[in-house]
Amino acid sequence: MTPSELYLDAAATTPPLPTVIECINAVQRDAWGNPSSLHGTGLVAAERLARSRQAITKQLGAQDDELIFTSGATESVHLALLGVAAGCPPGRLVISAVEHPAVEGAAAQLEQRGWTVVRWPVDGRGQIRLEYLDELLSPPTLLVSLIWGQSEVGTVQPVPLVARACRERGIPCHTDATQLIPQGLMDWSASSLDLLTFSSHKLQGPRGIGVLLHRPGVLAQPLLSGGGQEGGHRAGTEAVALIAGLAVALQHLPRFNAERSLAPPGSTPQIRSLRDRLQSQLAAIPALTVINAAEDQRLPHHLACLIGDRRGLPLSGRRMVQQLSRLGVACSSGSACRSGQAQDSDVLTAMDIAPRWRQSLVRFSLGPWLSSDDLESVPQLLQQAIDACT
Ligand SMILES: Cc1ncc(COP(=O)(O)O)c(C=O)c1O
Repeated sequence: MTPSELYLDAAATTPPLPTVIECINAVQRDAWGNPSSLHGTGLVAAERLARSRQAITKQLGAQDDELIFTSGATESVHLALLGVAAGCPPGRLVISAVEHPAVEGAAAQLEQRGWTVVRWPVDGRGQIRLEYLDELLSPPTLLVSLIWGQSEVGTVQPVPLVARACRERGIPCHTDATQLIPQGLMDWSASSLDLLTFSSHKLQGPRGIGVLLHRPGVLAQPLLSGGGQEGGHRAGTEAVALIAGLAVALQHLPRFNAERSLAPPGSTPQIRSLRDRLQSQLAAIPALTVINAAEDQRLPHHLACLIGDRRGLPLSGRRMVQQLSRLGVACSSGSACRSGQAQDSDVLTAMDIAPRWRQSLVRFSLGPWLSSDDLESVPQLLQQAIDACT
């Protein structure tokens, strides 16, 4: 976040809280030892690590042996899917049609090992179509992975319902909760999930640390072996300072009962009304369509729009994002760009958005550092960017 930039890209990453930075600096200075060492310097680090681990498991309602620290969500997802798959013969993996590339990447590795990957179809809001539940959770399905909060369009999936259905059938169920956890902490002890992934840098914690929650016995093999850290599930000297920073960041998040309400409350009590206000202000812009506007099935800080010019013709989301950046607004486009070539968004394709609009997504995602005054100028700047891109 440059001082002059209005940062509306929380779904990409978030600024670490000042208290997080202070904590990391203090731990780097005072507890820099290797927690596995038997001398005093090591014991200081081990004590700090144990305290942080305890604080984090308490926040999440997990036991110490249910939590693995990783480098981030991408690694957690790979450990979850490849770690479960190592314990059974190749079968069918069910993922949604709107997963993050991290899950698609792990699924592709399983395909190379003989697994079949089936994508759960979604409706026009990106919600999985529940009429497929029985069919998809029948043999030969051996593993399910479902994104809880979709990063591009903000859809919240009925993960607790699917997890319960998986449990009844004895199928391990993983969720990529990277976008959901920053908007509310669910209670792991009350959930039917077997595996849950998230990344610290999406919730104002440090970059380079992630979490995988797992039920004991579900992971058959580590990705990284060697020193036996993290209960043998993830070798490598623990990132004590980053873990301590994550513990501090988690203290600021609200809790929510995921078995009762579909959507989490939001990183702050104001975030939803801030987003709704921005959404109503943007309604005055012609050829702007908010997608996935179903209130209870949507991340509370997330606003995804398809943007066209004054004649109603689709504009390039990537060009819009670049133009908005010139005007001092940081946001994202949903469409991927590989080797310099813009491509249709796979997520918008799965949602059956008309082909000519599949590169026109602009995503605004808000965070606690914003006030409603900060957002006043956004509609005018957006209109300016539209005119510049036309
Ligand atoms: C839903 C989701 N899953 C996984 C990831 C990967 O997270 P990381 O880059 O921290 O590994 C992201 C990051 O954008 C995400 O939004």
